[in-house]
Amino acid sequence: MNRHLISAADLSRDDALLVLDTAAELAQIGGRSIKKLPTLRGRTVVNLFFEDSTRTRISFEAAAKRLSADVINFSAKGSSVSKGESLKDTALTLQAMGADGVVIRHHASGAPLTLTQWVEGSVINAGDGTHEHPTQALLDAYTMRERLGRLEGLRVTIVGDVLHSRVARSNVALLHTLGAEVTLVAPPTLLPVAVGSWPCEIDYALDAVLPKTDVVMMLRVQRERMSAAFFPSAREYSRRYGLDRDRLGRMPEHAIVMHPGPMNRGMEIAAEVADSPRSTIVDQVGNGVSVRMAVLYLLLGGASPAIGGDQREGEL
Ligand code: NCD
Repeated sequence: MNRHLISAADLSRDDALLVLDTAAELAQIGGRSIKKLPTLRGRTVVNLFFEDSTRTRISFEAAAKRLSADVINFSAKGSSVSKGESLKDTALTLQAMGADGVVIRHHASGAPLTLTQWVEGSVINAGDGTHEHPTQALLDAYTMRERLGRLEGLRVTIVGDVLHSRVARSNVALLHTLGAEVTLVAPPTLLPVAVGSWPCEIDYALDAVLPKTDVVMMLRVQRERMSAAFFPSAREYSRRYGLDRDRLGRMPEHAIVMHPGPMNRGMEIAAEVADSPRSTIVDQVGNGVSVRMAVLYLLLGGASPAIGGDQREGEL
């Protein structure tokens, strides 16, 4: 495995499966009374968040703490970044503090890759602009495999604002690596120009695709990244691309509904669908902690086993 995790395309099939299998092993800890392993004791993980986040930031923090790493949380608001300090100077400060791992979320696509020039530790991309969000794709793949038992041959439909979605980009790459068949459904204005070269199908008719779908992944309409009008109105968008109860009824009985969060309830997804037993939205958040533990362990942990051996601490 590479030292950094910048893009889902950095992962070979074996790497990705190793992350998912390690995550499944580490998930057992979540059910124990002492939810902690000493694996990364003495290591320092810095969470560097230049963009807002709830789930991703909290779950990286929980993951690092469950592995006993020292965690430093840095958010751009309230730091010298608001005084205009550059990414380079921030990185050099982290380097001086001896960060073994840097988890970075940034509004600029490419910032995590740039950071790898200035820090010696592993860099993990927690979402960069509209580019990639590889740990989200890993937790999504984990959730699909957990619910449906496989990834190979799974028909996954990703719906909505693909243009602004780093989640969609990372999912298309990873699911392709893992043998799933991905179809994107979006208004033509919300598809990137280069989408024709992505390893997936494109469709514009959601109702026709849903009966042939095992997993539907709804994307948030990212208004904060929109500088122009990409669709006539919220109502029109919902009517054509929103997942409501009727559309859920078109899907096979076993099919599941995913969303990376945060949701615009009533826009891309109806509240009753988001809260239905076929929705995995809450599971995705829980699985995010196990998957991020696996990534931190594999990138920072070295050769020691994740669980077992002399690594035991407390009640295992
Ligand atoms: C996503 C993100 O930030 O890229 N959320 C997440 O990490 N769970 C998706 C989004 O913002 O819509």
